[in-house]
Amino acid sequence: MKKIGVGADDAALEIKQTLIEHLKERGYEVEDYGIREGADYPDVAVEVAEAVASGEHDRAILCCGTGLGMSITANKVPGVRAAQCHDVYSAERARKSNNAQILTMGQRVIGPELAKTVVDAWLESEFAGGSSARKVEKMEEIDRRYHPAETT
Ligand code: RB5
Repeated sequence: MKKIGVGADDAALEIKQTLIEHLKERGYEVEDYGIREGADYPDVAVEVAEAVASGEHDRAILCCGTGLGMSITANKVPGVRAAQCHDVYSAERARKSNNAQILTMGQRVIGPELAKTVVDAWLESEFAGGSSARKVEKMEEIDRRYHPAETT
């Protein structure tokens, strides 16, 4: 697995640090998209999502206060599937069913221990293919419909 990108806004700096340390302990390489002065969640999300769309990272984790702004923004980048997950079942399904390359979480929603467990479940789950492949292809077709230049 390539390096995992991790980004956060100023509402999620503690959880970002917790997750970076956790990922390193688990043997993953991490690229920390540290917060620049004045950066809001859309600024961080688009930078990380573009790195995923370009193939620089196969997986990334984005945290903000709720996980919502990061998810909404990242999903605007063609080819990106970002899923907000605060429970283990959703994290597994985000990989197995939706092939989500980005996990988003909210520091104001989830505690550090559960967040680490959610991250592990998401990283250890793989896309199941089968009938899910058809559904993911349909999402990709929607990307192409709205962004023909970026996705051809
Ligand atoms: C703070 O800017 C807060 O709105 C943000 O971290 C996030 O929760 C937005 O979705």
